[in-house]
Amino acid sequence: MDKLMIIGGSGLLGGHLARFAQEEYEVVATYMGHPIEIPGCRTTSMDIRDFYKTENKISKEKPDLIILSAAQRNVDYCEKKPEEVWKINVQGAKNVAIASKKVQAKLIYLSTDLVFDGEKEGYQEEEDPNPINYYGKTKLEGEKEVAKACEDYAIARVSVLYDWNPFEHTFNFVSWVYNSLKEKKEISLFTDQFRNATYIKNACDALLGIHKKGEQGIFHVAGKNCVNRHEIGEKVAEIFGFDEKLITTCTSEDSNWVAKRPKRCCLNSEKMNDRLGIKSMSIEEGLDAMKREIQ
Ligand SMILES: NC(=O)c1ccc[n+]([C@@H]2O[C@H](COP(=O)([O-])OP(=O)(O)OC[C@H]3O[C@@H](n4cnc5c(N)ncnc54)[C@H](OP(=O)(O)O)[C@@H]3O)[C@@H](O)[C@H]2O)c1
Repeated sequence: MDKLMIIGGSGLLGGHLARFAQEEYEVVATYMGHPIEIPGCRTTSMDIRDFYKTENKISKEKPDLIILSAAQRNVDYCEKKPEEVWKINVQGAKNVAIASKKVQAKLIYLSTDLVFDGEKEGYQEEEDPNPINYYGKTKLEGEKEVAKACEDYAIARVSVLYDWNPFEHTFNFVSWVYNSLKEKKEISLFTDQFRNATYIKNACDALLGIHKKGEQGIFHVAGKNCVNRHEIGEKVAEIFGFDEKLITTCTSEDSNWVAKRPKRCCLNSEKMNDRLGIKSMSIEEGLDAMKREIQ
């Protein structure tokens, strides 16, 4: 059984991935500020800003595969605290990449659609990135550090991840909409922010598929359709049977965001479909899968 280390196991994606992978892999999941327990997995603390401790732990564990999910992904926070965020998203990625190379582990680095500026439709993996906010810049620099340090690596760019929250402290847009509508709260959703919302278990399948198929390089691991937040909200209401009238519309002009965001940032995930044999799920398929889980 291969050993998988998930760095950022206490996060939204990492928490799901650990549960998803534990039947096929020996899983070690790391946390930083939120100590966690995950059935079938070992957990341990790690701060990727500290090169020596990170390298030491990775050298002791000697995983076959490392999935680096840890990051500061709050887009406005990144804009406000650039130095602090650089240490996690860029220096941290570099530290993990060097340590991965040393133990000859394959490294899969989680990146984002926000490496692109949104000026084009349906970005493919080889297109030139041009981030318009600091978060996107740091994630792109993280990609470069991984490519520089490692021989056996892959970069998985995901977009608006959704699923049930694996822990109380995690957040995602779909769960937030679900909980708001369940409590009969009114919510106002953007009509001008388009992304390929990505069902997390679909992403987990693709991440492990990259390893199983021995693939390398960049993959767009994203949902099938590029949808706006209002469309996602309407689908949540429809599939879970909530009152659609609780949802009103707004545009990003009404927001008090600090960082710029592209209005339409859509990823083409044909490579994931073709090379990994994993079909990108539509928002309806992802929400249906969530519904089946609680039935
Ligand atoms: N969520 C999305 O919609 C989305 C979209 C595009 C790309 N991504 C990318 O996908 C990845 C996973 O995102 P996510 O939503 O799962 O993030 P998340 O829920 O915010 O989790 C972040 C994880 O990073 C850990 N972490 C933070 N600082 C760390 C440090 N210095 N050293 C070690 N661990 C640290 C956190 O640990 P503690 O909580 O224990 O402190 C947590 O486990 C990220 O790389 C993100 O950039 C996410």
